[in-house]
Amino acid sequence: MERTSIRLGGVALNSSVMNASGPHSAERGEIFELSARHNGAIVFKSCNIAGLEAPENLKNRGVEHFAGIARELGGRGKPVIASVAGATEDEIVTVAATLDRAGVKIVELNLADDYVQKTVAPFASLERLKALIGRVRGAIAAAVAVKVPPRMDYEPRAIADLLKALGVKIAVCANDLPKDLEIDLTTGMVKGPARTLSQTHAFFQVGEGLLEVVAVGGVNSGRDAYIAHLTGARAVGVGSALIKEGAGALGRIDRELDELLAAHGKASINEIIGTSGFSG
Ligand SMILES: Cc1cc2nc3c(=O)[nH]c(=O)nc-3n(C[C@H](O)[C@H](O)[C@H](O)COP(=O)(O)O)c2cc1C
Repeated sequence: MERTSIRLGGVALNSSVMNASGPHSAERGEIFELSARHNGAIVFKSCNIAGLEAPENLKNRGVEHFAGIARELGGRGKPVIASVAGATEDEIVTVAATLDRAGVKIVELNLADDYVQKTVAPFASLERLKALIGRVRGAIAAAVAVKVPPRMDYEPRAIADLLKALGVKIAVCANDLPKDLEIDLTTGMVKGPARTLSQTHAFFQVGEGLLEVVAVGGVNSGRDAYIAHLTGARAVGVGSALIKEGAGALGRIDRELDELLAAHGKASINEIIGTSGFSG
């Protein structure tokens, strides 16, 4: 839908709504079903070189499985975002380079997962993080996205500045808005004093226009997506709703978001990204 189309990391997408890495995005059949039923980007489940049987949340068939699917989807003009995991820096670089050669448009480094945090420990120091992302950046042509852990020992600004300096275009952040948030969709005004509302909001603010944020977590409706956009998201990732509802969830959320944009007189998502304010 025209109103919900955006550019992410320089890549034109027909919708700001996409699947989150993992749910409905590991097996060939489910990926092609998603691709057929929604005209936005496809995000692959995180993969490593050889595949994993455990932990459950990183169970995958290995990078060649995803590279093959990426080549097929790319041939049909479908924008693909591939997600990378690994137990060593070398493995992460190899997986990223393999997916890049297969034509994916955006390579997402899943640095949020416990498995990666316990093995590679990318956040052990800022120097370590810089070295890892810098190596990936140098090895691939695709835009780089980084999925950041919901909790870190660093201020968002320290991470955002590092990502910006390394030419990372996209931060995938938690959409961890407070449950009792009161927001007026017409004005974008949030009840209460100025504050940081979510990790998405924090990274949008410190990104200063140089970092695009994909909000993941709790996006189950067009309204959830609209609020994520108001608080800084350029795109949204849908996980649990896909598990509950199947592939149709993305189209439904996209339609609901489009209707809300129309109802509020907006011609494009671009008019609302990060425009929330506080009523004091
Ligand atoms: C079954 C399952 C598998 C997941 N696998 C991955 C994964 O491989 N890589 C990743 O970055 N996130 C993974 N996630 C996390 C999701 O991308 C997303 O961040 C999370 O589900 C929150 O969004 P939701 O509230 O819409 O479910 C997984 C989540 C679930 C439920």
